Amino acid sequence: MQLIIILGLIAKLALVSGDCEVENAVSNFDYNKFTGIWYIVYHQANEEEDKLDCAYLNAYSPDNSSDIVSLRYYNDSIRSFDERIATVPHFDNTGFELDVLDPSIWNGRVQFATIDYKRFYIAKFCATVLRTLRVYVGYRDRHPDEATLNDAKKALSDNGIDFDTLKSWNSSRCDHLNYKPDQ
Ligand SMILES: *[C@@H]1O[C@H](CO)[C@@H](O)[C@H](O)[C@H]1NC(C)=O
Ligand SMILES: *[C@@H]1O[C@H](CO)[C@@H](O)[C@H](O)[C@H]1NC(C)=O
Ligand SMILES: *[C@@H]1O[C@H](CO)[C@@H](O)[C@H](O)[C@H]1NC(C)=O
Repeated sequence: MQLIIILGLIAKLALVSGDCEVENAVSNFDYNKFTGIWYIVYHQANEEEDKLDCAYLNAYSPDNSSDIVSLRYYNDSIRSFDERIATVPHFDNTGFELDVLDPSIWNGRVQFATIDYKRFYIAKFCATVLRTLRVYVGYRDRHPDEATLNDAKKALSDNGIDFDTLKSWNSSRCDHLNYKPDQ
């Protein structure tokens, strides 16, 4: 009886961690090269996130001992920009963890499937609460050139992700709001 329960628990644990496993993550992630602004233009469809728009992040190190990621996005529910500040308690050669101060859908672990520090990345995010992987595509430039757009699409397809299933956080509203990080 006990053995069955233990085996059941092991199976359940395997299932839980399996949901968030990133296959073929990069093995040389470098947080210092990652710092700066990224426009998170594409994301996987998700009821809550589909209400957002014009998302970008700023990764920086206010001193040499702590790393911060500030997430900003237009939130249609409040019709204004929202900001969430996350600390990065840990990073390794595949990505980093995000620890947002107030309870948030952004708590979790980011791992990179592809990263070109000067142009774009494909990230997979495992939210602590949901334990499912979500895909995001970030660009250094909100107006990437044709080659960058094509390279990002190719990298998505190399990772088995269909570009056409992703949603954009780059509506004409973003032009109107002229969303620009306060640098
Ligand atoms: C961080 O480290 C660099 C060199 O390693 C040093 O030049 C700089 O002053 C340090 N900054 C702070 C805020 O400690
Ligand atoms: C958007 O705003 C609503 C209303 O304040 C809030 O409940 C929701 O958590 C916000 N979404 C995000 C992702 O911050
Ligand atoms: C975002 O939209 C602008 C025009 O509003 C466009 O120039 C830019 O290329 C778009 N970015 C991406 C990654 O599609």
